[in-house]
Amino acid sequence: IGIFDSGYGGLTIFDKIRAAMPGYDYIYLGDNARSPYGTRSFEVVYRFTKQAVETLFNEGCQLVILACNTASAKALRTIQQRDLPQWDPARRVLGVIRPTVELMDKISKSKHVGILGTTGTITSDSYSLEIKKMFPHMTVTGEACPMWVPLVENNEFDSPGADYFVRKHLEHILAADPEIDTLVLGCTHYPLLIEKIKAFLPEGITLFSQGEYVAASLTDYLRRHPEMDIRLT
Ligand code: DGL
Repeated sequence: IGIFDSGYGGLTIFDKIRAAMPGYDYIYLGDNARSPYGTRSFEVVYRFTKQAVETLFNEGCQLVILACNTASAKALRTIQQRDLPQWDPARRVLGVIRPTVELMDKISKSKHVGILGTTGTITSDSYSLEIKKMFPHMTVTGEACPMWVPLVENNEFDSPGADYFVRKHLEHILAADPEIDTLVLGCTHYPLLIEKIKAFLPEGITLFSQGEYVAASLTDYLRRHPEMDIRLT
């Protein structure tokens, strides 16, 4: 199983996947040399992600998880529909947006959810479109937090600068829709800011961190697809 992210952030997802399914062999690929992806165009994110998936396939992976929300938002569909059938229809590429979206109706009581993500993820509207398709009664508000990844990457996540940017985006999204009761950390780096985010979050709002849910969804996927016989013996 290959796990891909634009950089280190995807380790927050990989950690949970490996804990849930220790009986598999994993390769983690983080594109640190070219991160961040969050500010790049559709074309560039697609091209970089496609190269990463090809690399992981060449290493023998049968299944690749795009742990990166930006790559899931901008490249997954094209890879699944256009590239995969040509490469090898028996292999699979899965993302992190679908398993997150599937749980929104269950987790949110007010049916108003907020998505925190990179500029790329938010402007792609992927979360909003997917949630609306599955749960038309739900209201979705997105907030791009372009400074959060650089804060993590530069080891500034506990600085007064981080306080400013974390509070700014939380206030902004909650002002845009005061009925939000669930906020999705829609970027692999954001769990590293979770303590700071909690410190500025009003009571009664659930923070949704993807890792364990993506791991549970993958466990379920592999159970439903025994033809993907990739467990270590
Ligand atoms: N890994 C990316 C994501 O989950 C964020 C980091 C980046 O901008 O490259 O969206």
